[in-house]
Amino acid sequence: MTLRLAFDVYGTLVDPMGMADLLTQDAGDTAQTVSSLWREKQLEFSFRRGLMRVYEDFGVCTRQALRYAMASHQLGLASDREDELMAAYLSLPAFDDALPVLKALQGRYPLFAFSNGSYPALEKVLGHNGLLDQFEGLVSVDDIKSFKPDPAVYAYARRATGAWDEPLCLVSSNAWDVIGARAAGLKAVWVQRDPNKVFEDWGIKPSAVIQSLSELPKALKQV
Ligand code: LAC
Repeated sequence: MTLRLAFDVYGTLVDPMGMADLLTQDAGDTAQTVSSLWREKQLEFSFRRGLMRVYEDFGVCTRQALRYAMASHQLGLASDREDELMAAYLSLPAFDDALPVLKALQGRYPLFAFSNGSYPALEKVLGHNGLLDQFEGLVSVDDIKSFKPDPAVYAYARRATGAWDEPLCLVSSNAWDVIGARAAGLKAVWVQRDPNKVFEDWGIKPSAVIQSLSELPKALKQV
């Protein structure tokens, strides 16, 4: 049995909070809060679009969430600055543990990136961080025009990675993503990253919990 690995991208390999520094120019002391709200709303908008079946590229969710986060703090955002921030989103920084773990797993497991992001966005952000070449393939929800945690998305990931009769394991720092994958029959490792982060108790457990991606090779022996 070959275990295939599907890595979530935003929050797991690259850090959306990497925008906070740039936002200081626009939001001053509230940059961190605006950045968190931006990320929260980006996800909420994707969930709602999935439910409402009004799919748009994840970049649209990101842009509309940025507008919301700024407006709800009574902050203005000129359209050229908005474009600049959106462009910067394509070069978010990778977490330090991302590249080493992908290199360590190379040749041992088929590796895929599996994300709400569109292919051009994934190619840019992963390429920017030297992560793109580590993957056997990318799987974007854009192929089926819905978003995680729609079970159809996880079923599609199985098909796109060739994991028909063999297991597919999501690796994600997003608890809701882990729950979505487990509910759809995948294995899923939760990367807790922050020890204060609580796993939502839906009675659906991760296959394994790790604090950092560096613990993944060992954890995979038990999933
Ligand atoms: C991803 C976001 C949702 O799918 O974390 O990459």
